[in-house]
Amino acid sequence: GKGQHRHFMLKEIFEQPEVIGGTLNTMLNPAERTITLPTLPFDLASVGRVRIIACGTSYYAGSVAKYWIEKVARLPVEVDIASEFRYREPPMEPGGLAIFISQSGETADTLAALRYCRANHQHTLALVNVPESTISRESEATLLTLAGPEIGVASTKAFTTQLVVLACLAVGLGRARGAITRETEATICQALAETPARIAEFLRRDDEIHQIAQGIAEARDVLYLGRGTGYPIALEGALKLKEISYIHAEGYAAGELKHGPIALIDDSVPVIVICPTDELYEKTASNVQEVMARGGRVVFFSDQEGVGRLATPAHAAMALPTVHPFVAPILYAIPVQLLAYHVAIAKGTDVDQPRNLAKSVTVE
Ligand code: F6R
Repeated sequence: GKGQHRHFMLKEIFEQPEVIGGTLNTMLNPAERTITLPTLPFDLASVGRVRIIACGTSYYAGSVAKYWIEKVARLPVEVDIASEFRYREPPMEPGGLAIFISQSGETADTLAALRYCRANHQHTLALVNVPESTISRESEATLLTLAGPEIGVASTKAFTTQLVVLACLAVGLGRARGAITRETEATICQALAETPARIAEFLRRDDEIHQIAQGIAEARDVLYLGRGTGYPIALEGALKLKEISYIHAEGYAAGELKHGPIALIDDSVPVIVICPTDELYEKTASNVQEVMARGGRVVFFSDQEGVGRLATPAHAAMALPTVHPFVAPILYAIPVQLLAYHVAIAKGTDVDQPRNLAKSVTVE
């Protein structure tokens, strides 16, 4: 049941420290600060390219993984939406690694893409939340998210557990290829091990998000901006808001702002910014100044240092716990989930059963 929570979605958001911890435990040794992937039926060291295929929120998890795998394993990664990939019928060099991310393990387009990759001699790896699902059964190997059953139609804990598995996979690929130093692996492991506690810490500030949400419920359009791994989090935030509050929202790479979407900005458009302190902080902060100069109502998600460094104070700002930039997308997923939830509550929509949506899309 929902326990003390009003909706499954809220319960599942609050379960994240626990299920992320449980998922990490399957691969991460916190004392040694190492990651051990399950034995796979193919050699990760000989993989020359990676393709990640999924739909919806799972596609955004794959989009974060692209940055991670390229960075720590120095492997080229392509991410595809399953419904595009399957009909494009792209040429594939035999021996590549194809990863299929799906909470349900039953999404029709993702399954069709898996069958295409098998027929084209790719190594296939499923990342699912349902071990006995079709996508798991038809893949050569499976990595599991231990999110437990996800009842809310809007995916939350499945997403963040997908992210931690993908982070571990990136490290595992990096090690197999000799692309990552022992020290970097230890640093990432330490950051991952601390993530459940950082999320739990942030969840205690739910009332602050509730406050921010009151100013967004009246908006007609909302923009989400981010860079690097913050970009797919911006896309995910926009999707969550659309799904459950029915407010039109768009996620953009912050650097794309001046190539079009800045034309939308006036004082009626809330702009949600994902901006942890990392090597791209200044770039995004300068986009924020451009938005504010045009009257945009900026909601700034950063850390204490990042909030402090902003030249003009944002309309609203939250300093999240400071984390290593590698794990920032996992933590910054939480405020965008909570924001969508509280905006939907303010609007009185059906959070767990949004109109027109099904939990599992087993037909095209
Ligand atoms: C968004 C959402 C959907 C799913 C998508 C893929 O909140 O839930 O976008 O992520 O339908 O589903 P799975 O992961 O089951 O393949």
